[in-house]
Amino acid sequence: MALKLRRLSNALGVEVCDLDLRKPMSESTFGEIYSAFLQYGILLFRNQDISREQHIEFSRRFGELDDHASLPRDRHPDYPEILLVTNRPNPDGTPSESRYTGRSWHTDMSYTTRPALGSLLRCYNLPEVGGDTLFANMYLAYDTLSEGMKKLIADLHGIHLSGTRKINVADAGEARRAEVMKLNPPIAQPVVRVHPETGRKALYLGEKVKRFDGMTEEESKPLIDYLNRHATRPEFVFRQQWRENDLLVWDNRCTLHQALGDFDETQLRHMERTTVLGTPSGYIAAA
Ligand code: SIN
Repeated sequence: MALKLRRLSNALGVEVCDLDLRKPMSESTFGEIYSAFLQYGILLFRNQDISREQHIEFSRRFGELDDHASLPRDRHPDYPEILLVTNRPNPDGTPSESRYTGRSWHTDMSYTTRPALGSLLRCYNLPEVGGDTLFANMYLAYDTLSEGMKKLIADLHGIHLSGTRKINVADAGEARRAEVMKLNPPIAQPVVRVHPETGRKALYLGEKVKRFDGMTEEESKPLIDYLNRHATRPEFVFRQQWRENDLLVWDNRCTLHQALGDFDETQLRHMERTTVLGTPSGYIAAA
């Protein structure tokens, strides 16, 4: 079966049209899906009224799933493979721990030694307007650097920290932040990562990186800021405007993303994500 694909932006992403993920899928159709995933970095499947089991089952075709032990409070209580990204209050009325998840540029689980290969985010509930997510193509970010800059960053490692979200640090509480930081020591990842399947080089940074290994924050900041600004230029970005029952799949090894706070926080935004484990990368760094 030849997949019907529709480009989502000049930089990255395709919609896979006319496919019902509730129906059985042959190996060859999944092979085409996986090739499109490697080629375009993002796949959008619209109108997928799938169950949680179907979400998990489809995700497993991409690889072994994370049980989200690094974020125990954000896991679905009955499905450890599912991470909640929601502003729905907890049953006891307290605010959801995950209401600000993803609000800075990042790539999933980069603060672990087995950062994510991919993520599959299902949209359940949306505010009336907004609640969008931005994605940036990190191959383009790398390819468009000067040869001098490529040389300068070739051997650098960025220290990736968990719990450095811009907004919820104070808001979510120090206890949660301390718990997440304890579970996840700082991890040094190469700033230039070779994608294990395509062999292409991609920038691997984001706003969880505050310094390079062996350098101070003050020394590192100007270059980190420059690279993040360069990587997220509008021409490298796709903006996902969600619809309910969208399933969006992205390759964390060559993209960054950021959930926007561009909506009325009194309205429900409820998303559920599975995370596909990647190949080991990086090492534990001195704090
Ligand atoms: C995430 O970073 O996985 C969440 C993205 C979103 O909620 O749009």
